[in-house]
Amino acid sequence: MGRALSMRQRRLLDDVLPRLAVPEGGSLNPNRLFHAAREVRLEIGFGTGEHLAHQVLAHPDIGFIGCEPFIAGVAALLARLGPSPPRNVLVYPDDARTLLARTRPGAFAAIVLLFPDPWPKLRHRKRRFINRTSLDLVAAALAPGGWFHVATDDPDYAVHILAEVPRHGAFAWAAESAAAWRRPSDAGPLSRCEVKARAAGRPAIYLAFRRQFSP
Ligand SMILES: C[S@@+](CC[C@H](N)C(=O)[O-])C[C@H]1O[C@@H](n2cnc3c(N)ncnc32)[C@H](O)[C@@H]1O
Repeated sequence: MGRALSMRQRRLLDDVLPRLAVPEGGSLNPNRLFHAAREVRLEIGFGTGEHLAHQVLAHPDIGFIGCEPFIAGVAALLARLGPSPPRNVLVYPDDARTLLARTRPGAFAAIVLLFPDPWPKLRHRKRRFINRTSLDLVAAALAPGGWFHVATDDPDYAVHILAEVPRHGAFAWAAESAAAWRRPSDAGPLSRCEVKARAAGRPAIYLAFRRQFSP
């Protein structure tokens, strides 16, 4: 059971979230949800929102959708965005797969998945986000040539990602140099999981895959 929400968290969820919520039901054309955005990006599992909030504020000409079912994390993102949040962000406080399933094909210029739960126990591996079904959804929602960014500090999950994503067939790993493994320079502040990984001395790898033009 999660900890009870504070009054401040509840107020943010009651007052601010309805203004930023992705419209419910039906097929979704993300490019219609933002006024004058040159492209739309999706962050899956934004946790407490460090990376997403930074990207939203750094790129006012890009639309962002963040998915996160952990409701205290949604409140943390809203707190970062302030009482008058920018107009280039929308939040889906639920499972990214249900949003992807109703998204117009090719809608996102980039999809970001930072430090997905590694589910290290063998019997829990099937819960990992990176699997054939989710990759089908990601591949369908990404524009041809679009980016799928994944980071992890779990060596076993890294091996899994490097096997499963290229094997899927819709993605090519864009690793032209050693720099491709490193944290992108515009990533902003460390996410909660990055902070924990660094404190534990676990190096993270950053993988960038490109949606192929033809699968
Ligand atoms: C290990 S945390 C990483 C959080 C954040 N990205 C970071 O780097 O600190 C994984 C997050 O993914 C979220 N998550 C798990 N499955 C998800 C799904 N199917 N759709 C969206 N978010 C999901 C969890 O609630 C959790 O907050």
